[in-house]
Amino acid sequence: MRIVLFGPPGVGKGTQAKLLVEEFHSLHISTGDLLREAVKNKSTLGLEAKKYMDGGNLVPDEIMIGLLEEVLQSDQAKCNFILDGFPRTVAQARALDAMFERMNITLDGVISLRSDHDEVIRRLSNRRICKACGRIYSLSQLDGGSQKQCRVCGGELYQREDDKPETVKHRLEVYLEQTKPLKEFYRRSNRFHQIDGMKQIGYVHKQILDFLYKDRTEI
Ligand code: AP5
Repeated sequence: MRIVLFGPPGVGKGTQAKLLVEEFHSLHISTGDLLREAVKNKSTLGLEAKKYMDGGNLVPDEIMIGLLEEVLQSDQAKCNFILDGFPRTVAQARALDAMFERMNITLDGVISLRSDHDEVIRRLSNRRICKACGRIYSLSQLDGGSQKQCRVCGGELYQREDDKPETVKHRLEVYLEQTKPLKEFYRRSNRFHQIDGMKQIGYVHKQILDFLYKDRTEI
């Protein structure tokens, strides 16, 4: 499966991507994770990206397009991938189409997750992530926050810098202005499908699978 997961900050792209990776054994390409790794390693990319990420702004298109082109060259990506967080602008979407054409790749689905503004703010302020394995939690899964270690690997949990309320507010504005217009770009494609990201995690996952398997079961 080659899938693009699309939607506002906190809607559950990362959560659903991890479930889809288990289902399809695909490569999870999260541009946010790639950038955070670069920031942690203090690489040239990381130092440049940090300036934008800390304020909740998008990293410039030319940097992101180059980064994605590099990742898509890997053998695993050529077979199967879940794209989480890319594209985020119409320029990125056009560049992605051009890359796919050059590589003779077709997408199985563009899944757009829909959310409510207040719920997204609540989710992001309650999000904790495992430093070791990257598992994503909300405080309700951690006994309201009294559980301090990852339930699976025991790793330390942390809160993302850009999950502070003022930055979240700005990230949402950036989404509305620069990323949401992409919906119209993809809506024309018959691979576009919108799902309510406000439902429970398992239900959202099932809706995604139903869509992806639909064409394969109809004979
Ligand atoms: P990125 O890391 O991609 O952040 P984002 O898109 O803002 O999305 P999030 O990771 O915050 O949320 P999510 O939708 O994955 O939600 P999650 O599953 O964690 O990007 C970070 C930054 O990097 C950007 O601001 C930008 O600077 C830069 N960047 C990245 N890509 C870029 C690009 N292409 N171009 C330019 N710049 C780029 O869930 C959130 C919480 O909700 C969790 O606690 C989870 O447990 C909970 N939750 C999830 N689903 C549900 C549910 N159904 N019900 C209840 N709770 C749920």
